[in-house]
Amino acid sequence: MKGVSAIILAAGQGKRMKSSLPKVAHLVLGEPAVWHVAAAAKAAGIRDMVFVLGFGRDKVLPTVEEFGGRVAIQESQFGTGDAARCGLKEVPAGSREIVVLCGDAPHIRPATIRALLETRRRKGAVASVLTGILDNPGGYGRIVRSPDGAVAKIVEEKDADAATRKVREVNSGTYAFDRAFLESGLPRLTDMNAQREFYLTDMVLEALAQGKRIVPLAAGDPDEVKGINSRRELAEATRILQTRKLDALMDSGVTVVDPARTYVETEVRIGPDSVLDPGIMLTGNTRIGRGVHIQTGCVVHDCIVEDGVQLKPYVVMASSRVRKNAILGPFSHLRPLADIGEEAHIGNFVEVKKSRIGKGSKANHLAYLGDATVGRKVNIGAGTITCNYDGISKYPTVLGDGVFVGSDAMLVAPITVGKGALIGAGSTITRNVPPYALALERAELKILEYWVARKKPELLKKSGLSVPRLKVRKGDK
Ligand code: UD1
Ligand code: CA
Repeated sequence: MKGVSAIILAAGQGKRMKSSLPKVAHLVLGEPAVWHVAAAAKAAGIRDMVFVLGFGRDKVLPTVEEFGGRVAIQESQFGTGDAARCGLKEVPAGSREIVVLCGDAPHIRPATIRALLETRRRKGAVASVLTGILDNPGGYGRIVRSPDGAVAKIVEEKDADAATRKVREVNSGTYAFDRAFLESGLPRLTDMNAQREFYLTDMVLEALAQGKRIVPLAAGDPDEVKGINSRRELAEATRILQTRKLDALMDSGVTVVDPARTYVETEVRIGPDSVLDPGIMLTGNTRIGRGVHIQTGCVVHDCIVEDGVQLKPYVVMASSRVRKNAILGPFSHLRPLADIGEEAHIGNFVEVKKSRIGKGSKANHLAYLGDATVGRKVNIGAGTITCNYDGISKYPTVLGDGVFVGSDAMLVAPITVGKGALIGAGSTITRNVPPYALALERAELKILEYWVARKKPELLKKSGLSVPRLKVRKGDK
C-alpha cells in the first residue's frame, strides 16, 4: 500500500507482567506479541513500518529485522502520545496516512486494518479508531461518543468517573491518521492526567479543537481489540490465537480431534486429511504433509513431515525430516538433522541424531544412531549403538543397502559396513566389513553343568527350588 506507514508502539516495559523481558517480546503461540501485529500490518499491504522501541529493545530487534522495519528509540516511556511522536520522526515524507498499532495487541486482523483506513477516507475524518464492545472493559480507555456517532473523547480508566467506567465500548489503541493532522496535533499534547503521561488518545480533543472529526470503527469480533497487560491476559491471547489457528486448519481439511487440547503454533503448516490427536505440540517452523496421523504426546519442532507419515504416541523430534509413509514411535526421539527415509520404521526408544536412514530401513527397538548414513532396507537390531564419540570427536558410521545388524551390536566409528553384510548379535565391530560378509565377535561360550547346585545352592533355596542330589565325583570334597 503506497503512501501508508505503520507505527508500532513497543517501547513499554509492561510492569504488570513482572518480567525482565519487554511485554511485546513475550511469545504468543510461538511468536512475540509484536510479531503478530507486524504480520497483520504486512498482510494488510503496509510495507513501511516503524517500531518504537525502548525497554529491552534488543529482544524486539529480531522481529524488526524480520519485517524489514525501522527503529525509533523512545528512551523514557512518557506515554503513547510521546511514543507516536518518536515514531513519526522516522516516517518517510511520502507517507500521507499512518496506522498506529499497539505492539501488545496481537489479535488485530489485516482486514480490520484495511477497514480502518477505508472508514477514515470515506468519512473524510482526520482519524479513525478501532473500538470494541467488551463485557468486562476494565483497564481500557473508554470511548465517549458524540450525538452524531463520532468520538467525543477517550477517557483512560484511571481518569474516568463512575459513569464513564460503565461504558463498555473501549479503545483498542489502533488508529488510522491523516499524517498532517498527527503532525500538527502531537506536539500540543500535555501530560495533565492521572498518570502524568502524554496520551495519544488526547488527539481526539485536538481534532475537536481544530473543528475536525475522529470516527470509530467497532470491531466485529471484540477479542480483536484485547491487549496483553498481565500473564493471565498473555494466556488468554494464546487461547484466542490458538482457536483461530485451529479453525483455519479445520477449514482447510485437517481433523483436530480435540481443539481444547491441541497446541499448534502460528507458523506451522499442515496438509489436508491429516489428523491431530489430543495432547500434541507442533511448534516453530514445522511443515506437515497430507494424510499424516499425529498421535497423542508427540512434540514436533521445526520439522518437515511428508505425506502419509504416522507418528505414534510420544514421538519427540526437532529440526528433522521424515519422508513419505514412514512410521515412527511410540517413544522415538529424533534429534537435529535426522532424515528418515520413505517407509522406514523407527520404533520405541530409538534415538536418531544427524543421520540419514534409507528407504524401507527399520530400527524398531532400543537403539542409538548418530552420525550415521544407513542405506535402503537395512535392519537394525534391538540394542544397536553407533559408538560415534570417543570423548573428543564424533565419527561417522556407514551401513550399505540391505545390511542386517543383529541385536546388541556396537558399531565403533568411524566404520563402514558394505552392502548385504551381516553383523552377528552381540558383536563389537571395530573394523570395516566388506560387502556380503559375516562379522562376528564373540567370546567362547562356557556351560558348567550343575555349577549353581554345587557352588551356590542358597540361590536355589531362595527361589524355592530344591537342591538336586549330586553324585559325589572324584576329587570333590
Ligand atoms: C492504551 C490506551 C487505551 C487503550 C489500550 C488498549 C493510551 C493513553 N491508552 O492503554 O486507551 O484502551 O491501550 O490496549 O493510549 N508504549 C510505548 N511507549 C510509552 C507507552 C506505551 O511504546 O511511553 C507502548 C507499549 O509498549 C504498548 C502500547 O504502547 O505496546 C500500549 O501501552 P500501554 O501502556 O499498554 O497502554 P494502556 O494503558 O494499555
Ligand atoms: Ca495495553
